Amino acid sequence: MRATAAEGPAGTAATPAPADVLVRIEDVTKRFGSFTAVSGVSLDIRRGEIFGLLGGSGCGKTTLLRMLAGFEEPSAGRILLDGQDMAGVPPYARPIHMMFQSYALFPHMTVERNIGYGLKHERMTEAQRRDRVREMLDLVQLAPFAGRKPHQISGGQRQRVALARALARQPKLLLLDEPLAALDKKLREATQFELMNIQARTGVTFVVVTHDQDEAMTLSDRIAVMDKGRVMQVGSPTEIYEYPTSRFTAGFIGMATFFEGRVQGVDGPSLRIDLPETGTVIEARAAAGLAAGQAVTVALRPEKIAISRDRPAAANAVEGTVQDLGYFGKDSLYRIRLATGKLVLVHAVNARRTGADGRVADWEDRVWLSFDPEAAIVLAE
Ligand SMILES: Nc1ncnc2c1ncn2[C@@H]1O[C@H](COP(=O)(O)OP(=O)(O)OP(=O)(O)O)[C@@H](O)[C@H]1O
Ligand SMILES: [Mg+2]
Repeated sequence: MRATAAEGPAGTAATPAPADVLVRIEDVTKRFGSFTAVSGVSLDIRRGEIFGLLGGSGCGKTTLLRMLAGFEEPSAGRILLDGQDMAGVPPYARPIHMMFQSYALFPHMTVERNIGYGLKHERMTEAQRRDRVREMLDLVQLAPFAGRKPHQISGGQRQRVALARALARQPKLLLLDEPLAALDKKLREATQFELMNIQARTGVTFVVVTHDQDEAMTLSDRIAVMDKGRVMQVGSPTEIYEYPTSRFTAGFIGMATFFEGRVQGVDGPSLRIDLPETGTVIEARAAAGLAAGQAVTVALRPEKIAISRDRPAAANAVEGTVQDLGYFGKDSLYRIRLATGKLVLVHAVNARRTGADGRVADWEDRVWLSFDPEAAIVLAE
């Protein structure tokens, strides 16, 4: 995740001053016939940030980008860029560039000509054009490959050519639809950092669509999580991961075990929640709007749960048996079966070298699970 300017606690990030907002999306809906692809989306995209759009296939990510770029008009709502309503402004007249999933490089053109292609309709002299292409080649570190054709360079290099072509026209906003999808896992990871680097050097605002949560977390200053055409949550990667506001977001980003429960009582800063699936009443942190009697879902991240052989002196502890374990060398992932039959995911770092390996427990072992009140994510749904 990228270092960002300080934000308030979960859900309280201050509304940015209008000057910080490059794009304002106001209650935008897109219908295709009777089907609603994007439903009542409101978002602010800030100047100079990498904004991640994350969600499963068909949730409306590309449709939202196409409306920003002007390839589709919203059925309802408004899109403002620098305060100007984009309604009726054609794609070529918007200071926005959209980089499609398949970068569509011209196979018969050299890297240099591919990058320069985007400048064809710009009003500039031949010398200015050459300078801009040089500058872009340097930016993406492809000057030595300027004379090659796309098939003579690697997948990652092709991705950088597409990026250079997109940036050559100096857009205010660059929309990238699954920019790394064509790359294998290792190259993707390296290219993520390059992308961040190039964004930082140009200062251009990026909106990056991905369905890969790790990629969104790594790249983005802020993320919007989408489901079925709706934005479920907007926040920094930390806010989204540590303070999800819905079961969908908690389950979509990272792993979690979910428990159905009911608030038993509120004592100042702490909350007692009856979780029948654990056979216990747990302690959690009080949150606004939660009162005794309320039905809640509690989500626990695997790495927030400690596993031990002996009963720990923790606020929340429950006993179980190791049902499954995956040993990955530096860490292990356990599935613990509680007395109620509920399975709980637990992640443990194998810090010590004990026995054949460093794991805390083996199949069928009796163990204790414990977690802090702060670790329980309490969802009022
Ligand atoms: N022109 C169209 N006519 C009718 N339905 C459409 C049209 N374009 C998109 N849709 C539908 O709208 C929904 C959202 O599509 P969209 O392409 O925005 O999804 P996505 O989030 O980009 O998915 P993916 O991750 O698979 O690319 C899908 O159900 C899709 O079938
Ligand atoms: Mg798409």
